Amino acid sequence: MPIKPLKKAVLPVAGLGTRFLPATKAMAKEMLPVVDRPLIQYAIDEARAAGIEQFCLITGRGKTAIVEHFDVAYELERTLAERGKTDILEELRSLSIEPGAMMTVRQQVPMGLGHAIWCARAFVGDDPFAILLPDDLMQCDPPCMAQLAEAYQETGGNVVAIEEVPRERVNRYGVLDVAEDKGRLVSVKGLVEKPPVDKAPSNLTIIGRYVLMPEVIGYLSKMERGAGGEVQLTDGMAKLIGTQPFHGLRYTGRRFDCGDKAGFLEAQIAFALGRPDMAPAVREFLKRYA
Ligand code: UTP
Repeated sequence: MPIKPLKKAVLPVAGLGTRFLPATKAMAKEMLPVVDRPLIQYAIDEARAAGIEQFCLITGRGKTAIVEHFDVAYELERTLAERGKTDILEELRSLSIEPGAMMTVRQQVPMGLGHAIWCARAFVGDDPFAILLPDDLMQCDPPCMAQLAEAYQETGGNVVAIEEVPRERVNRYGVLDVAEDKGRLVSVKGLVEKPPVDKAPSNLTIIGRYVLMPEVIGYLSKMERGAGGEVQLTDGMAKLIGTQPFHGLRYTGRRFDCGDKAGFLEAQIAFALGRPDMAPAVREFLKRYA
């Protein structure tokens, strides 16, 4: 069967961000900036670099700033133009999304990631789609979603980005039951969400980047509650195995868990050090904390 092109991405941003309270009481976690751009912008840029053209944000209460961020700020742009601030003006313009290419869907109650993805069912239709969790900030070359899109062109079917974690931490993630480990690609015979450490089938875990087939929506619509009483995406994906190809991709690069305070702080340092305009000053002040 021909492999359908990957043009759609779903970005769930409806979570409560409880690990980041009180910062996230009135502000969306996805608007927290790393250096000078919000997490959601990194995720959209990464999706675009993988050839994605249509975006669906799964939003909830208190998330309107995310939608504003991708709108045209007409008055601001006019003021910047009048003041001759062309660099920043160009950058702002590159942010805006083509009219009609971004939609938002409201997940009224945050019932879990699987439920959030099910909310995008009308957007997904019969097409393959990417999922990017913006709080997993990736520093990869080529960008992580581009690596996944390339693997999808090779294998067809479902591909999720994976990484190895120390055994004692597997109970925080979706974990792979491995059919065959081919190195870069791993074929999967099962998935389990947040298993107890002694029951985990491996220490290969799924991170917040996926390419999935639309059939997953049918399984999610059953609304079965899994780990933590939530509708888990991992449980829906597990049902696809055996009916469609399912692979894990050991991506090249680094992930920062920006839903976690320490991960977020590390991302600030890593991304600042990756910026030629910031790196010298940051290196200098870091010496004071060595
Ligand atoms: P997290 O597990 O990080 O949950 O969600 P959270 O609520 O955002 O943060 P904490 O754990 O309370 O601090 C992973 C991703 O799934 C989305 C989140 O927005 C985040 O991008 N999500 C999660 C939803 O959109 N809806 C949900 O019901 C749950």
